[in-house]
Amino acid sequence: MVKTIEWTEEGVRMIDQRKLPTVEEYPIFKTYRDIAGAIRSMVIRGAPAIGVAAAMGVALGVRDSKATNMAELRAEFDEIAETLAGTRPTAVNLFWAIERMKRLFKELASEGADKRLVADRLIQEALAIQAEDIEGNKRIGRFGQELLPNSGTILTHCNAGALATAGYGTALGVIRAAVEHGKRLRVLADETRPFLQGARLTAWELWKDGIDVRVISDNMAGSFMRQGLIDAVVVGADRIAANGDVANKIGTYPVAVLAKQHEIPFYVAAPFSTLDLKIPDGSHIPIEQRDPSEMTHISGVRVVPDGVPVFNPAFDVTPNSFVTAIITDRGIAVPPYIENLRRLNHS
Ligand code: MRU
Repeated sequence: MVKTIEWTEEGVRMIDQRKLPTVEEYPIFKTYRDIAGAIRSMVIRGAPAIGVAAAMGVALGVRDSKATNMAELRAEFDEIAETLAGTRPTAVNLFWAIERMKRLFKELASEGADKRLVADRLIQEALAIQAEDIEGNKRIGRFGQELLPNSGTILTHCNAGALATAGYGTALGVIRAAVEHGKRLRVLADETRPFLQGARLTAWELWKDGIDVRVISDNMAGSFMRQGLIDAVVVGADRIAANGDVANKIGTYPVAVLAKQHEIPFYVAAPFSTLDLKIPDGSHIPIEQRDPSEMTHISGVRVVPDGVPVFNPAFDVTPNSFVTAIITDRGIAVPPYIENLRRLNHS
């Protein structure tokens, strides 16, 4: 399995997802500021992977802090947490992971632990978040694979695979688990303009694993559905509200609308760290607006006339009425989500 992110004594090693599939490089990020830069520039991306990177960033920042006493370290901790939290606004796993690190830091500080012990415990916590994510994805896979047919074609959008998580993947974890159970599946990967997570990343990791994958451009899905060539859709999520509204990569909503029109099940796979049960619905989810150059250029070549403005929202919100089921690491939720997600949360 590809190593998306790894803690090392020198810093945090990540596969550079901007360069895939042509170049496979694993640079090491040696400061928390470098890690924040890697999250912002999408060296690492995907909600759970961003959470793991932020947790490791917090641990690294504390370990390498020059603070000489706890008061100084507390002030520096706030700066570290704010820098990492200011990178990408939509994926709630980022804030979930930072909050978890913050809670532990406060607990240790109030117990009077020294800096070295605090740093060691924070490193252990970041590694626990990473390990739990992989275990959670395997559970998502086990629950979700039962929903897929014994043979057929599954459409996915963006990359919700090993590269987007600590490993195994959410949406792609469901597909992996189904294939491991002997189901004969073909995957159609939407190319996912403008960053091409589908064409570059989903195709790369499934191909490497020997899973049958073909790439289609984003505007082909409707035609394939109308011809009866797609049996189910599985996607990941960046944030899920209490009522089951789902924020995911821009272009997910039109796929969900098409799936409903063609009576094709539309599944969302995500761990509980992607649930934001504090917000009642998707209208409260902040949508990241990214740099226009991602739209105006492809691989450094301008494709939009110079001076013409573009829009570049990175995510959209799919209302719960389009979602057949939400596959979580604690089980499968079906409508009404407001009750069933809450029930799983307390299970
Ligand atoms: O902008 P990205 O590449 O970080 O967006 C990623 C997605 O939208 C994924 O589908 C989502 O984070 C789930 S990853 C398991």
